[in-house]
Amino acid sequence: MFWLLILASYIIGSVPTALIVGKLVFGVDIRDHGSKNPGATNTLRVLGKKSAIFVLIIDLAKGSLAAYLPIYYNLDAEPLYFGLAAVVGHCFPVFAGFKGGKAIATTAGALLIVNIYLLVIAYVAFFLVIFLTKYVFIGSITVGISMLVYSFVSSKVEFELIFTLFSLFLIYLHRSNIRNFILGIEPKINDKKLIND
Ligand code: G3P
Repeated sequence: MFWLLILASYIIGSVPTALIVGKLVFGVDIRDHGSKNPGATNTLRVLGKKSAIFVLIIDLAKGSLAAYLPIYYNLDAEPLYFGLAAVVGHCFPVFAGFKGGKAIATTAGALLIVNIYLLVIAYVAFFLVIFLTKYVFIGSITVGISMLVYSFVSSKVEFELIFTLFSLFLIYLHRSNIRNFILGIEPKINDKKLIND
């Protein structure tokens, strides 16, 4: 049952929301535009606010649904593992050539079920950093760092390794943003959209 639900979580996470919205509603492949990332931030940049909110909600729901699976099936297993399986699906989707998003919305959805306090801490930090810097990727990396710090100061010591790896994973996923930032070409959140005004 454990592995079946992990697989189900990965498949749920693999639904490429931004790709589907781009293709079905606008007839464009979001992976050819903006940062080329099929996530809510690039959807905002390329397709506009309404699409971005839709993508954000669905990507978030993928994480929540997956993390809720063991609870629904009365499985004695940590919901975080299932949420993370959905995050892996979101980042490496079987339905989109294993080229997916950068984990942030789906992670938020998973934390909604796993640990609401951590959700609030990590995502208040996320929005605060974006507000101050205007760069979404710096906020995204802050999510990982917040989770890491939380795991070290809370009693959830078993999460320390997972969140250390997760932080490194987030930095890896944002390597193109870091490179663009160094080159001075990383767009800020308020830079204009490319396709849909
Ligand atoms: O959550 C994704 C964000 O951190 C970066 O997205 O499109 O600017 O690469 P993007």
